[in-house]
Amino acid sequence: MLDSLSKNVFYMLARSSGLKSLASRYGMRSTDSFARRFIAGESIEEALAAARIVTQAGLHTTLDLLGESVSSAAAAGEATLAYLEVMRKIADAGIERNVSLKLTQLGLDIDRATCVDNLRRILDDAAARDFFVRIDMENSPYTERTIEIFETLWNIGYRNAGIVLQSYLRRSESDVHRINKLGARVRLVKGAYKEPADAAFQQKAEVDAQFIVLMKILLKDGVYPAIGTHDEAMITATNEFAAANGIAKDKYEFQMLYGIRRDLQTSLAAAGHPFRVYVPFGREWFPYFMRRLGERPANIGFVVRGITSERK
Ligand code: FDA
Repeated sequence: MLDSLSKNVFYMLARSSGLKSLASRYGMRSTDSFARRFIAGESIEEALAAARIVTQAGLHTTLDLLGESVSSAAAAGEATLAYLEVMRKIADAGIERNVSLKLTQLGLDIDRATCVDNLRRILDDAAARDFFVRIDMENSPYTERTIEIFETLWNIGYRNAGIVLQSYLRRSESDVHRINKLGARVRLVKGAYKEPADAAFQQKAEVDAQFIVLMKILLKDGVYPAIGTHDEAMITATNEFAAANGIAKDKYEFQMLYGIRRDLQTSLAAAGHPFRVYVPFGREWFPYFMRRLGERPANIGFVVRGITSERK
């Protein structure tokens, strides 16, 4: 109940332009500004520096140039060019060639064709440079369209991509089977958006139970699934299931978000589990940041402290 309440509040706040401009002014201003706990920086150079530190600690990375809900074809085209530039810089820097992106960033709200054209430009370039591209999952009005586009491109030969499925959605069990049938990779997460009860489980206990159901299907029948969570109970359940079924550690990986549970990130990697950190960066960080606050309202404390100390 509290989970969905806080998600609702932060979902509403995320749409406030006043709050966005206030946060944008203070959130990334200096190296210890409050948003830097979750966002690697506004520039690709800052993201590469963060990725280098993560890599030196023995962890893998996926870089995400933040952006979503783009409302014109021109802006979607710009986001596409920006991704191509980001991939060029990642390759030049010798950082692992793995990125994550959102389809509304590439024009899904404008029309399917714009989005598919932009995604194909990125996937073509990614294939030429040996990148893996993870398509993040947004809220439920986009689920079917995201899966359908992924499926279509997969079936015409784009194999350097994977998708995300969310355990809070009631439909996800059938989607897991659908993606497993393709032989594509899934990142399993709980889900970060405010969703209606007909589409999604509302109680944490239900979302967690479903996460375990889907994790088991993915570990048994999926292709190199990524278990994306900071929840120790989910991680323990995954490792126990793998051990009980003779599934080796290198047949799946764990993923966490930049800045969250860094203790667990390094201890899992040290225990020999392939581990990837999702490194978000870019100027459009506000909605991503608000989702992180919605997941854990206690985070608001350090934001308030950050703002008041910066304004002094
Ligand atoms: P849960 O929310 O139950 O938290 C478990 C514990 O983790 C908490 O008790 C706390 O210790 C810690 N924790 C979790 N969130 C925290 C936060 N914000 N700040 C501090 N501590 C926190 N979602 C989506 O809808 N589409 C997507 O494409 C993705 N992509 C994605 C990639 C990766 C690599 C990860 C790890 C997550 C996502 N998510 C996502 C987000 C995901 O859906 C979910 O909202 C968060 O991971 C939080 O859920 P947990 O599984 O961590 O569990």
